[in-house]
Amino acid sequence: MAEPVSTDQNTTDHPDPAGGRRTYADGGPVADVVDVADDTAGTDGTDDRTFSRQGWRLILRLTRERRAGIALGVLVGLCWTAAKVSTGILVRNAVDQGIIADDPGALRRWSLTLGVVAIASATFTGLRRYVAFREARWIEAHLRDRLFAHLQRLHFAFHDQAQTGQLMSRANTDLQQVQAFVVMIPLTISNAVTVLAVTVILAVIDPVLTLLALGSLPFLNVVATRFSRRLFPSVMGIQRESAELAAVVEESVAGVRVIKGLGAERVQADRLKAEAEDVYDESMGAAMTRARYLPGMELLPNLGLIAVLGYGGHQVLNGNLSLGTLIMFNVYIAMLIWPLRMLGMIVAQSQRAAVSAERVDEVLSTEPEVDDPAHPVALPAGEGEVRFADVTFGYGRTAPVLDHFDLRVATGESVALVGSTGSGKTTVARLIPRFYDAEAGAVSIDGADVRTLAVRDLRRSVGIVFEDTFLFSDTIAANIAFADPDAPHESIERAARLAGAHEFVSGLADGYATLIGERGYSLSGGQRQRIAIARAILADPRVLILDDATSAVDPTKEHEIRDALTEVMRGRTTIVIAHRPATIALADRVVLIGDGRVVAEGTHASLLASDGRYRQVLASAAAAEHAHAGNGGSGGNGHGDGVGRTTEEVAS
Ligand SMILES: Nc1ncnc2c1ncn2[C@@H]1O[C@H](COP(=O)(O)OP(=O)(O)OP(=O)(O)O)[C@@H](O)[C@H]1O
Ligand SMILES: [Mg+2]
Repeated sequence: MAEPVSTDQNTTDHPDPAGGRRTYADGGPVADVVDVADDTAGTDGTDDRTFSRQGWRLILRLTRERRAGIALGVLVGLCWTAAKVSTGILVRNAVDQGIIADDPGALRRWSLTLGVVAIASATFTGLRRYVAFREARWIEAHLRDRLFAHLQRLHFAFHDQAQTGQLMSRANTDLQQVQAFVVMIPLTISNAVTVLAVTVILAVIDPVLTLLALGSLPFLNVVATRFSRRLFPSVMGIQRESAELAAVVEESVAGVRVIKGLGAERVQADRLKAEAEDVYDESMGAAMTRARYLPGMELLPNLGLIAVLGYGGHQVLNGNLSLGTLIMFNVYIAMLIWPLRMLGMIVAQSQRAAVSAERVDEVLSTEPEVDDPAHPVALPAGEGEVRFADVTFGYGRTAPVLDHFDLRVATGESVALVGSTGSGKTTVARLIPRFYDAEAGAVSIDGADVRTLAVRDLRRSVGIVFEDTFLFSDTIAANIAFADPDAPHESIERAARLAGAHEFVSGLADGYATLIGERGYSLSGGQRQRIAIARAILADPRVLILDDATSAVDPTKEHEIRDALTEVMRGRTTIVIAHRPATIALADRVVLIGDGRVVAEGTHASLLASDGRYRQVLASAAAAEHAHAGNGGSGGNGHGDGVGRTTEEVAS
C-alpha cells in the first residue's frame, strides 16, 4: 500500500448515503484503510488515554499555529451546513406551494432557488475540503521536516537501537494519522452543526416523526463502531504483512547476487510465497468482517425511511402533515447518514492521532546525546595531534570495550591499529569524531577536548572511511564532493588523484559525471573504496581514519592503492585499521589492541619479530580472508596468490 491511510477517501464529503456506502463496498486497500478511521478502540492494545498526553500537546501546538486557516475552514464549513440544511426546506416548499397548490410559478421559483443553493453548496463542499486539507497537509509536511531534521541530529547510539526502516515507515503512518485528524476538525464541526440543525428543525415540526425517522441512526453509529473495532486488527495486519512482504521482495532484489550465488532461488521463492499468503489471509479476514457488517449498515437507515413512510404517510393521508414535509424528512435522513458516521469516526481518529503524535513527539523530544557545547571553543591551530587519555567506553550495559585506553598519535604520524575482530578498533575510530562520547577520560585533537568543539568543526577536521562504503545514487563527482557540493572541480580531481581513483574514473565514458547506480553496483569494491577515500580527503582533514578501507581491494591489486595510500598519508595524521601486512607496513607505527588497551606497539617488522600475539592476530586475519575468498565472497580473481603471500609474510 503506497499510502496506508487514504485521507482523501475517509474524509470525503458524502452528503448522500450511497456515496458513503460506496467507499465501503468497493473493497480493496483504499477501502480497508478508510475503515480504519471508524474504530474507537486503541490502536496498539495499549491504553491511549494514559499514554498520549504529550501527543495531544503536540497536536494542540500545531493546530494553534494554523488556527487562522482552521477557523476559515470552520467558517466555510458552516456556510456549507447552511446551504445543505436549507435544501430540505426548499424541497418542501416546492412540493407544497408548487405541486400540491398547483402553482407552476411557485414551483419554478422554488426550483430555481434550489438550483442556486445547490451550486452554493457544491462550491462550499470544494472550498471546505480544500481549506481543510491545506491546513492538514501543511501540518503533516511541517512535522515531517522537523522529524527528519531531528533524526539527522540524533546521536549514533539512538540509530543503533532504532530500526531505520521501521522508524521511517512508522513516521509515515503516524504523520498521516495526525493529518487525517486535523483535516477532520473543520469537517466535523460543520457535520455536527448539520446534525443538530436538522434535528431541531424536524423536532419542531413533528417530534414523533423525528423520533421515528432518526431513531435508528444512532444504532448505525453503534454498528459502525463495532464494525471498525473488529476490522481494525485486520487492517493493521494487512499493513504489517504487506510491510513484511515488501521487505522480502526488497531483499530478493537487492540480494539477488547472494541468492543466485548460493543457488537458493527456491528457498527465497518459498519465503516470498509464505509472505504473500499471509497478506492474502489477512485481506480475506477483512473481507469477511466487511461482508458480515455491511448488510446491517445498509439496512438501518432504510428502517428510518420505512418508519417515516408508514407513520408519516398516514399523517399525510389524515391531513395532519403536508406531503412536502414528508419528503423533507426523507431528504434529511439521507443527508444525516454520512455526518453521523463521520462523528463516530472523529473520536476514534482523535485517539489514534494522539497516539501517533505521541510517538512522533517521543522522537522529537529525544535530546541528541552528542551535541554542541554551550560555548564551543575554536579548533586550535595544529596539524592534527590525536590523544586518548585514560579513555573508558562501552556500548550500553555491556562490559567496556575500551578500558583505560591511552594512545597518542603525533602530528603527521600514521598509526596502524591492529587487533583481533571485536577488539575495539572501530570503536577507537568512532570516538574521535564523537560518534559516541567516552564514559571516562578524554579524547582530544590538537590539545582540545573533542567535547569542547562545535560538532561540525570537529567532524570537518576528521575524515573517515568506513569498512562498508556507502555511496549515494548520484554522479561520481557529487559523491566525492558530498559534504561540500560547491567544491570546484579541481579539488574533486585532486582528491581523486590522491585516492588513486582518477585513473579509472577518467577511463569511464562519462568520467566524473558517471552516475553510480543504487549502492554503486556498477563499480568494483576497490573502486568504491577509492571514491570513499577521495570523499574523505576532499576537505583536507587534519586527521584521516581508514577503517578497513582497503579490505575490498583485491590483494593482487593492493599495490596500486598502496601507492595512493602512501600519497594520502604523507604528512597527514592518519589512523589505519587494517589486517593485511602490506597495508600495515605503510604506517610509521603499529599499535596492537587487546582487552581494551594497547598491548604492544612498534614497527610492523619489530612486532612481527618480537610479539607472538601480533603474529597470531595477523595469521587469523589472513585465515579469515582466505576462507572468505574460498567462499566466493567478495573481491574477484587472484585471491590465492595474494593470500598466499600474506600468510607467508606472517609466518616469516
Ligand atoms: N553500535 C554498537 N552497539 C553495541 N555494541 C557494539 C556496537 N559496535 C560494536 N559493538 C561491540 O563492541 C565491540 C568492539 O567492536 P568494534 O567494532 O570496535 O571491533 P573491531 O575491532 O573494529 O572489530 P572488526 O575487526 O571485526 O571490525 C564488539 O564486541 C562489538 O560487538
Ligand atoms: Mg571494525
